[in-house]
Order: sequence, then C-alpha cells, then structure tokens
Amino acid sequence: MDNNVVGLLKGVELFSELNEEQLAMLANLVVVQDFNRDETVVLEGDDSMQALYLIASGSVQVYMTGVDGRETILSFLERGDFFGEMSLIDGEPRSASVRTVTDAQMMIIHRESFLQLIRQTPEIAMALLSEMSKRLRKANKQIGSLSTMSVSGRVAGTLLNLMEERGVRIHTDNGKMVVVIHNRPTQQQLADMSGTTRETVSRICSMLVKANAIAMTGKDIVIFDENVLQEKASKG
Ligand code: CMP
Repeated sequence: MDNNVVGLLKGVELFSELNEEQLAMLANLVVVQDFNRDETVVLEGDDSMQALYLIASGSVQVYMTGVDGRETILSFLERGDFFGEMSLIDGEPRSASVRTVTDAQMMIIHRESFLQLIRQTPEIAMALLSEMSKRLRKANKQIGSLSTMSVSGRVAGTLLNLMEERGVRIHTDNGKMVVVIHNRPTQQQLADMSGTTRETVSRICSMLVKANAIAMTGKDIVIFDENVLQEKASKG
C-alpha cells in the first residue's frame, strides 16, 4: 500500500525535490480517498476540516458561488495538482469550493502533518510559493479581463488560456498545424470561466466556428486559427 502511495506521490510536482526516504515518510501521513464525478470535496466558507488534497487521478474544478447562485470557475486542476493549501496556511475558512469533474482519487494530508513537512523541507515551501504565484498571476489576468474586456474578448481569452494550459499541437494531413483541447469544458463551464451565460458562449462559439477559427466536437475543441482569438482578446 505504501509503495503504491509513494508511486502516487512521485507524480506530484510539489514533492519533486523529496528523496525516497522522505517520500516514504510522507506516504505514512497520507490517506487515499476515492470520489465520484460531481462530488463536492471542499466547500467555500467551510472551516471544519483542514487538510491538503493532492490529486492522484481525475480532475476537479475550483469555483465560487455568487449571491445569485451563479458559479465562477477559477481553475481546473488535474492529476499531480494540489488544493486546500490556503486554509492550511492562514487558518481561515475555505476560499472557494472544489468539485470533481471526473471520478477521482485524492491523497489527503492533515494540516499539522503538512505544516511540519513545510517547516522541515524548505524545497516544498518554495514549490508551494511558486505554484501560488502562478495561480495569483492567472487570477490577476482573469480580474483584468473581467473588468475591461467585452464578452467575446473574454470567451476568446478563456479559449487561449485553455490552449496554453492543455492544448496539444497537431500537424494535419494537409500540413497545417492545429491545437486540440481534449476533454473540453462544457459550454456552461466555458461560461462560468468567462463570466457570462451559456447562451452567450454558444452564440460566440458559433461565430468562431463560422469564421473557421475553431471547431467543437463532442469531446474536443480544435483551434484552427489562434490569430482570430488573439485579435478578439486584444481588442477587449
Ligand atoms: P482553500 O482556500 O483551503 O480551499 C479552496 C482551494 O481552492 C484553495 O485552498 C486553493 O487550493 C484553491 N483555489 C482558490 N483560489 C484559486 C485560484 N484562483 N486558482 C486555483 N486554485 C484556487
């Protein structure tokens, strides 16, 4: 069992600096738990259980719920990513909710164990800070685009972000290069990432399809012409 957990821990970027012995010690502190798709793992405002979650398999979405019940997606996280560190560090209630997008397996570390690990291993603190800086940069970009961009600019910006984060470049038979975003978000999720409604996303995506900039299949988004998206995103 521990060997298995050590294997899973090796897939977590945060622990890439740990040696075998440290990983084995950490494995003893970890509880592995399975979650079904669409299960809430962490609830915004909750202060009852303070633990860090490492994603061993599957993916989750981090989101906030507005007073009108509308959700804003802050991020998608997947295998090797972590969440729940903010409450662990500042002792405040959960800053956002986290829900599984697929069936998922998590490794859970309780607050005291994790804080002790950070104190003993500065490399982990550095890796944590580095990831938190990355998330803050992305959040800043999101705030900037929400307050200054038009809705079509925001949807284009969301597609460009997805492309950067998880797009796969592929050469087509006729020598062109396209970018494929596999397991694409639903139109509702794209709306929740862009601060708009599903209907508006549907209208803007149809426009982008007509302009031959993108194609949407059941599972993927294919980007044929990223310049069209860049142009929309830069115009605001
Ligand atoms: P915590 O506040 O403990 O619980 C919710 C978690 O969501 C939070 O820790 C972070 O791990 C994660 N989270 C919050 N805001 C963001 C964001 N903007 N991007 C990515 N993850 C986030």
